[in-house]
Amino acid sequence: MTMLDEAEALLPGMVSLRRAIHAEPELGLHNPRTAARIRETLADLPLEWREGPSTSGLVATLKGGANGRTVLLRGDTDALPMQEDTGLPFASIIKGAMHACGHDSHVAMLAGAARLLSARRAQLAGTVIFMFQPGEEGHHGARYMLEDGLLDPLPDAAFALHVMPNAPHGLVSGKAGPLMASADKIRITITGKGGHASMPHDALDPVPIACEIVLAIQSWVTRNVPIADPAVVTIAEMKAGSTDNVIPESAMLFGTIRTLSPQRRSAVQQGLKRLAEGIAQAHGASAHVAFTPGFPVTVCDGRAVEFGERTVKALLGAEGWVTLTSPVMGAEDFAYVLEKVPGAMFFLGASHEGDDWRQCCALHSNRMMLDESVMARGAAVHAALAERFLAEGFAA
Ligand code: NI
Repeated sequence: MTMLDEAEALLPGMVSLRRAIHAEPELGLHNPRTAARIRETLADLPLEWREGPSTSGLVATLKGGANGRTVLLRGDTDALPMQEDTGLPFASIIKGAMHACGHDSHVAMLAGAARLLSARRAQLAGTVIFMFQPGEEGHHGARYMLEDGLLDPLPDAAFALHVMPNAPHGLVSGKAGPLMASADKIRITITGKGGHASMPHDALDPVPIACEIVLAIQSWVTRNVPIADPAVVTIAEMKAGSTDNVIPESAMLFGTIRTLSPQRRSAVQQGLKRLAEGIAQAHGASAHVAFTPGFPVTVCDGRAVEFGERTVKALLGAEGWVTLTSPVMGAEDFAYVLEKVPGAMFFLGASHEGDDWRQCCALHSNRMMLDESVMARGAAVHAALAERFLAEGFAA
């Protein structure tokens, strides 16, 4: 049987694992029920398991028939703090938690790959590491697992797959270089002087200053950021005041900054700080600008992407691969792994076969649904990447 046929045979098991995890989503760095399900599902396989103190993350090691390279495959395990509205029979039974980013399917595909590769263990020319990682949704789970030493000694290559419900069914896509953005939080506090809303001349109203800063940020981005090394800045939340007849002392702005290079990341931070402080000062008020660093840029190694393209085409045919022409400005904490290990993340189209994928609900939607049948492809792609890398490395 081919890898794909074997994966198709494992699909019912992957579907039931995915549905069980989907029904009981867990948030953040500790996903104990999910971890227990993974251990239980794979208990019959010849895997060595490791855990660290900081998260419920699991690392399972499969030693092949020969010593050689080591390759890491990663699946994230956590869900999002939001209510599910899909109406699926296996919809979340946990209030305010939903697997809206498809990480339930990532677990199932990685478990499938562990089974596919265990069956070929004797022929594997090295070691496969399966990284089941919690805390992807802004919690830096990958960084904690690295800091806990769970990936030491570092593997020679690392791969991850992410499902995309609004992309053509079953197609695998990727690109060399920056694939996803860095994501930093910005918080601007404008401080003036409170007073009576009927006598603004006796106060120093921070509200119009905050509004001016929001608009100035948009001009600043278009006039300062080259399109070849872009940035997205969105002020998504404004807070000021408590009632209609009081000028508040302060106003706050919260937003996100997305960039694709470390240089742009720091230039945008410096520029926005100067801009906000300068505008507030011009009005006799003050602004305090704070940044909370999020995930770094997800950078895919050119050799790993070429290797991935060859592997996917050999597995699924030439039409199974799409080279992306532009990055996605979302962020991904697999970036931490790719900072240390050459590798790549690929996307797997998971719209229902025959559906107009452009109409499908996107990731993080309360109505996000996947075609579970693509999980067979996902498991086969994972397994083929590992098997081939162990045999040949990135070499063509
Ligand atoms: Ni995700």
